[in-house]
Amino acid sequence: MEERETAGQEIDLQPLRRILEERYRPRDHQEAQELVVGACQEAQHLYGWVPPQAAQLIAEHLGVTINRVYGLLTFYADFRTESPGEHFLWLCHGAACYIAGSQKVVDALRTEYRLGEDGTTSDGLLTVQVFDGCLGACDLAPVAQLDHHEYIGQLDANRLRELVEEFRARRRVGGNDETLD
Ligand code: FES
Repeated sequence: MEERETAGQEIDLQPLRRILEERYRPRDHQEAQELVVGACQEAQHLYGWVPPQAAQLIAEHLGVTINRVYGLLTFYADFRTESPGEHFLWLCHGAACYIAGSQKVVDALRTEYRLGEDGTTSDGLLTVQVFDGCLGACDLAPVAQLDHHEYIGQLDANRLRELVEEFRARRRVGGNDETLD
């Protein structure tokens, strides 16, 4: 897979910051060291990978060095430090989105696009994760968050197809005309 620019990618760190403040409050340095793995798991669960901005936030919040965070990220094979797909779609499947029809979007994804175990299309164009919590934008339900910052409201199967076409077109303009499986 081609290497991608990731350091400048815009990431919404608010959800991770909230989790860290609520659940990761070490009493001392030893405990802070022990909490790094769990905090990285939270980040990966949220973003599908551990972006550098998230690693930095974890280091600052726990008061450990960034080397300690990356030491663990590279030690455990389950952690991903590169964005799995060129685009990342976080599809909300919380109660309001479910009632508004998010299941139809999930079904369209499963039947129309072949996703690997990590939710990434075989050409690396798109990674999709279904989020069972609430993305905090219920008035837009069903809603998805694109590339960690842009909210797409009233998402349905047609809008999903349009999105994929936009990604394909952008990729073609970029000189790569592979298609999405
Ligand atoms: S349940 Fe989907 S944004 Fe709240």
